[in-house]
Amino acid sequence: MTENTAAAIEFARSHRDRFVDELKALLRIPSISTLPEHAGDVRHAAESVVAELRRIGMENVRLIETTTAEHPNGHPLVYADWLHADSAPTVLCYGHYDVQPAEPLDEWTTPPFEPTERNGNLYARGAVDDKGQMWMHVKALESLFAANGGKLPVNVRVLIEGEEEVGGEGIAWFVRAHGDQLRADVALVSDTEMFAPDLPTLCVGLRGMIYTEVEVRGARTDLHSGMYGGAAPNPFVALAQIITKLKDENGRILIPGFYDKISPPTQDELKAWKALPFDEEHYRQTEVGSPELTGEPGYSVLERTWARPTLDVHGMPGGFIGAGAKTVIPAKAIAKISMRLVPNQTPAEAFAQYKASVESIAPRGVEVVVRLIHSGDPIVVSTDNPYVKSATTAMHEVFGTETVFVRGGGSIPIVGDFVRELKIPTLMMGFGLPDDNLHAPNEKFHLANFHRGIESIIRFFCLVQA
Ligand code: BES
Ligand code: MN
Ligand code: MN
Repeated sequence: MTENTAAAIEFARSHRDRFVDELKALLRIPSISTLPEHAGDVRHAAESVVAELRRIGMENVRLIETTTAEHPNGHPLVYADWLHADSAPTVLCYGHYDVQPAEPLDEWTTPPFEPTERNGNLYARGAVDDKGQMWMHVKALESLFAANGGKLPVNVRVLIEGEEEVGGEGIAWFVRAHGDQLRADVALVSDTEMFAPDLPTLCVGLRGMIYTEVEVRGARTDLHSGMYGGAAPNPFVALAQIITKLKDENGRILIPGFYDKISPPTQDELKAWKALPFDEEHYRQTEVGSPELTGEPGYSVLERTWARPTLDVHGMPGGFIGAGAKTVIPAKAIAKISMRLVPNQTPAEAFAQYKASVESIAPRGVEVVVRLIHSGDPIVVSTDNPYVKSATTAMHEVFGTETVFVRGGGSIPIVGDFVRELKIPTLMMGFGLPDDNLHAPNEKFHLANFHRGIESIIRFFCLVQA
């Protein structure tokens, strides 16, 4: 470790409490990107990140607006750079400052936007996904600036979006239209998990997705179910019939052609996954908590969640959902349905196959409209570059163990564009834990991992320079 690295680590260690306090302030802002009534909060979060990037010494710090005719009400991007490290490589740091909705609120032990420390964890919506992890980047940069006379060991660009949780259209537009302003040698993404506590992890693949709505209309207006039941179509029953024809009891998706182009993981990958410390029964009990796990027979849980497509229903708005009973045949109903995609599937083709399938299986008596809400490509990143070595060395210095290589079942739509549009290797170095409750009540960030993440990133920047 060089003197400069040691000084930055020392700075980070002696400012741990302040770093956490600042993160708490950011977590108090309910920057829920999908809810229009929170647009002001989303912008407020972006502005506070801008202010901090300026304060620590980044340059060209600004908000980039993403609203266009095709993309109304876009949330702003946060951009910053520092490009004075001469011949050193340029790292593009990515994160997102938007969060998922916090419902159901009554299942939170402490309120989602009142960050609270308990047992070494910081509980709040966005703690780990992704404000806490994005803040690790900012605090690593601050530590390097502060300990090294206002200089960084590498060139850095920072790009932080506020629409990741709604599909990332704004950032995709910017990367495609203005890729020249993002020239870099490697992208660093901290928005994934470690495979297990104390096990440094690089994520090398993500599933893609298509998020859709199916709207079913039957009668002209809501009807009395006694007077009309038996003669009038019920949109919820129609949706149930459609859904059960999309996926069978074994978890196999029945959409014609859906699996045709899938490229399976390599034998080497499958072998490496078998060697990971994974206990299916422990996973069922502690993470899932259902009486049994479901899914395709013949595939391990890791294959099912990382390398197989899936189809899920997220909610079915419509009808009567109040307390008590109301005998109504709703005129319309909606199902929010998404599919996770795996390498070689494309969102466009998957959506076309799905739409045709839904239209062909819709029962008599109803009209069906299938809408695409957002989508993202599946991705597998190459590990054949020197930055992987810098990352694993950095994490070895912090954790004292070898890095494992995994895939993730989730999606980060922009990673595909970093690889395809910017043509740069992407490192997904995340510090979440499997039980951090992403998107769920009681989301948390294990604070030890927040600090280890900051130290890993400091060391990574210093190693990349060498
Ligand atoms: N950080 C997650 C994605 C993730 C989680 C990847 C865990 C790997 C492991 C990200 O914020 C996320 O939730 N993405 C959404 C994207 C979608 C809305 C386009 C997802 O996966 O549902
Ligand atoms: Mn995320
Ligand atoms: Mn998320």
